[in-house]
Amino acid sequence: MKKNNIVLIGFMGSGKTSNGIALSYKLKKPFLDTDHRIEQLEKCKISELFENRGEAYFRDAETECLKKLLEDTDDSIISVGGGTPLREENRLLLRKLGYVVYLRVRPETVMARLKGDTTRPLLQGEDPEGRIRSLMESRKEAYEDAADIILDMDDYKNREGVNAIVRAVNEYRTKEN
Ligand code: S3P
Repeated sequence: MKKNNIVLIGFMGSGKTSNGIALSYKLKKPFLDTDHRIEQLEKCKISELFENRGEAYFRDAETECLKKLLEDTDDSIISVGGGTPLREENRLLLRKLGYVVYLRVRPETVMARLKGDTTRPLLQGEDPEGRIRSLMESRKEAYEDAADIILDMDDYKNREGVNAIVRAVNEYRTKEN
């Protein structure tokens, strides 16, 4: 049995945080972001955590964060880091946590949105475009496997994306009953 959260997954720059905040206003539910939680807990930025403790440490922190949310969070909007669905254990946790919505976007959308971004350690270095394309391709299956609902978000303007998420979750809930 699922908890009654809406969980947003998707690649970096797919709009998990911005849509999550907008959803939280629209539905009058709290908004939680796992990256933000980890930063608070570890008292440092994700980029520093990658640098000082390594990616594996961060991935363990993500799994711990999901377990904690499963214990103490319901009726909320949750956004998770772009790599969270990669672990099978996390995919199970995500599905228990609520209605998992995959915000799917094209690589071009991510490139336009994250141009010049310095906060994503996985996209720093020589060829961010190639990195985005190859990471996206390698993650496709995990995102699709974790998702209850898949939405193509590239062409939505303003609030259209949020409205599409609400509509899709309501339809999913209706079918489920
Ligand atoms: C990551 C995505 C980031 C953050 C970390 C790793 C990833 O979150 O968790 O930099 O592996 O895709 P956003 O998806 O919110 O950018």
